[in-house]
Amino acid sequence: MKMKNQREEIKLVIAGHVDHGKSTIIGRLLADTNSLPEGKLEAVKENCRRNSKPFEYAFLLDAFKDEQAQGITIDAARCFFNTKKRNYLIIDAPGHIEFLKNMITGASWAEAALMVIDAYEGVQENSRRHGYMLSFLGIRQIYVLVNKMDLIDYDQKVYDKISTEYKEFLTKLDITPLGFIPVSGMEGDNIASHSEKMPWYSGPTVLEQLDQFKQEKLPEDKPLRIPVQDVYKFTSNGDNRRIIAGRIESGKIAVGNEVVFCPSGKISTVKTVESFNSDSSVTTSSAGWSVGFTTTEQIFVKRGEIAFLKKEQKPKATSLLKTRLFWLGKQPFIKNKKYLFKIGTAKVEMKLETVDRVLDASTLKTKQSNEVRRNDIAECILRLDKITAFDVAEEMPETGRFVIVDDYEISGGGVVVKALADEHSRAYESTVRRNVKWESIAITEEMRAERYNQKACMILITGSPDNTLRKKLAKKLTEKLFHNGKFVYFIGMANLLYGIGADIRGIGEDVRPEHIRRLAEIGNMMMHVGLILVVSAQEISENDVRVLKTSLNGRGDRLITIWAGNTITTDLAPDLKFLENEIHGADEEITKYLKENGFIFSFDLNNSLG
Ligand code: GTP
Ligand code: MG
Repeated sequence: MKMKNQREEIKLVIAGHVDHGKSTIIGRLLADTNSLPEGKLEAVKENCRRNSKPFEYAFLLDAFKDEQAQGITIDAARCFFNTKKRNYLIIDAPGHIEFLKNMITGASWAEAALMVIDAYEGVQENSRRHGYMLSFLGIRQIYVLVNKMDLIDYDQKVYDKISTEYKEFLTKLDITPLGFIPVSGMEGDNIASHSEKMPWYSGPTVLEQLDQFKQEKLPEDKPLRIPVQDVYKFTSNGDNRRIIAGRIESGKIAVGNEVVFCPSGKISTVKTVESFNSDSSVTTSSAGWSVGFTTTEQIFVKRGEIAFLKKEQKPKATSLLKTRLFWLGKQPFIKNKKYLFKIGTAKVEMKLETVDRVLDASTLKTKQSNEVRRNDIAECILRLDKITAFDVAEEMPETGRFVIVDDYEISGGGVVVKALADEHSRAYESTVRRNVKWESIAITEEMRAERYNQKACMILITGSPDNTLRKKLAKKLTEKLFHNGKFVYFIGMANLLYGIGADIRGIGEDVRPEHIRRLAEIGNMMMHVGLILVVSAQEISENDVRVLKTSLNGRGDRLITIWAGNTITTDLAPDLKFLENEIHGADEEITKYLKENGFIFSFDLNNSLG
């Protein structure tokens, strides 16, 4: 947990091939910096003696982790220690899968890395793979430790050979390591003190080097990002506050700030900030804290959205993104298959759109492929099932990395390289701009709903172009609702095409999203007014629905889609469907649906007001 007046802390990952000595080096660091509790070293040594197994510095790490884990939850791969200068959090990745998982899931994001290479075995597959992953994740501060120098009689020639080879490899990745250190974790050479056995080496010890790593720009100095974790509702005693909760990944939040939510575009002002881990109330909070905050207006936001400040740089929102990813799954990553994509607190279904480039991570050879196999690294374009908020990792790593879940398993992970424009980008951009500029008054939608005895909604009746049943049904439904005292309006697409849409040149798919966006804007206002809006439009697709929902914004869940006709000729999954021979009683069915779903509150089907 973060404390006030905290000391500087650096997060460091230790990487390298299996058995090259990562744990031993950390164990050594712990022992030689006196970071271990009194008697720990002796106890572990004694334990080894009793069980007649040779003592290993790596055991210290395990014993220490158990110790540190008491009372606080830490994952098995982390441990802390301090130097005079600052605190360290060391992430020991047992294997590259765990390493990548930890890094990408954000459990532990490292600012610097120590890469361990066994002097006897030399550069191995994982030495290369981890190197690639560091570059891939954008970690630039890397020091290479050539370990087990004792096994090669502290021979400078071997050390030079390995250093040269690995440096060449890193250069291909655009990484210039800060330096190399010959060490022996087992003997303690060049770990905490300079070794007499290698007079030819005059550089820093590992410990000296640690204190030279630079801390990156603090997350709290970056724009605000709070991925919404949960929205709590307080229902007791007429308390209708909603607390929006999440972890501040970057930036600062304060009472009075105007916050916007991405991708919904909802906007409000922070009324209170509640910290979950301090008893006194606070008015500000910053990166690293988990907070809850309330807003002056009651707004409805969902888990997965990102809160940011109106005056700061906004996150990206799209459903199409260019990424760099690493695949770990047993099954290859293929097209036309549904996966789960997790970024921040958002979870959405996704598909692989294109594979632009595939690399074998250890040889770094490019190969031509339509799929991404285990241990491959690839540049891919991903298509998400819905518009989602995130950042480009280079600017904001905290909200720019993702994982891909295949069959309940984390099978891949990566970073967002670029947000690409999708069909909804235009609608989305204008919606956010409109919301930010929106002028509102003290009459709320709830007040209007109460006055008109109905909840505003949009009933979209669609069907194939040659079928006029949808239009007949829409008109009949509107008239029925009207005569039953409802506040309702009918719009045929033609009413818009030749009026509001008169300036749109062209026909077909190119201009369709813009017509739909305008329909949504009108629908949005009419729903704001409190109306039930009945729309007749031909061949509505899921894509149209997405554009509509983007523009309708928070009102998108009050869009009801109905297909009239025997065959659905688009990919629409409508809320209701009526065959031609069912159209006759469809208006009553729809009315029933509206009642059951709470859109109209009292309505007697047989007893109209008219
Ligand atoms: P994994 O976590 O399994 O990937 O291994 P690791 O990289 O953490 O290696 P670990 O520290 O467990 O060391 C592996 C083996 O190498 C152990 O038997 C160590 O005793 C031995 N070893 C580590 N460092 C040195 C060293 O400097 N010299 C010698 N001779 N052996 C070492
Ligand atoms: Mg280990």
